[in-house]
Amino acid sequence: MTEPQDAIPDTDPFALFAEWFALAEAAELNDPNAMALATATPDGCPSVRMVLLKGQDADGFVFYTNAESRKGQEIADNPHAALLFHWKSLRRQIRVEGVLEEVTREEADAYFASRGRASQLGSAASDQSRPLEDRQVYLDRVAALEHALGDAPVPRPPHWTGFRLAPARMEFWQDRTARLHERRQFTRLADGSWTSTLLYP
Ligand SMILES: Cc1cc2nc3c(=O)[nH]c(=O)nc-3n(C[C@H](O)[C@H](O)[C@H](O)COP(=O)(O)O)c2cc1C
Repeated sequence: MTEPQDAIPDTDPFALFAEWFALAEAAELNDPNAMALATATPDGCPSVRMVLLKGQDADGFVFYTNAESRKGQEIADNPHAALLFHWKSLRRQIRVEGVLEEVTREEADAYFASRGRASQLGSAASDQSRPLEDRQVYLDRVAALEHALGDAPVPRPPHWTGFRLAPARMEFWQDRTARLHERRQFTRLADGSWTSTLLYP
């Protein structure tokens, strides 16, 4: 079968993301919304970890976490970040780069309230990224919080929040025959519109 000469269209990158994400949701075994989040200290030392995409629209890509974690501290000191999706079964990758902004309190409250109670308790009891002398200490903290709350709702800790990455650049990569892969990079212009170019693979 002959491949199309130019398979990644020069179109709205958010619409293209939505199209590829829908394919990933149908194809991936689990966590199609998993993405690597790269942050860096102000002097440029990078760190990367996986997080889950919990919202995406023309304003950007949203994930939730603990703002007192290592990533949270790096974001507070340097809001520039990058995301990477790699869908192995589709042999596709999307890179996103831009600046992070904390979501509103209402958004964080709404998302926290939508989580299962066990997840709420687990995140509320976690000093994410801080040393833990024994795993049992964490399990005891979860149990103590559960006991203290009884049937009351789990309050969202103020440091448990979300961040939205507003993309300045997005790149779509697709595996092609004989490793003649295809890349299209979209760059946001000052007026908010996008320009795109193919890149050598
Ligand atoms: C597939 C996957 C999804 C994850 N999703 C999240 C998430 O949405 N939020 C989060 O805080 N941590 C998530 N984690 C855990 C992070 O990778 C990481 O261990 C944690 O956030 C602490 O990172 P930090 O010390 O760099 O702040 C996920 C891990 C995996 C493997």
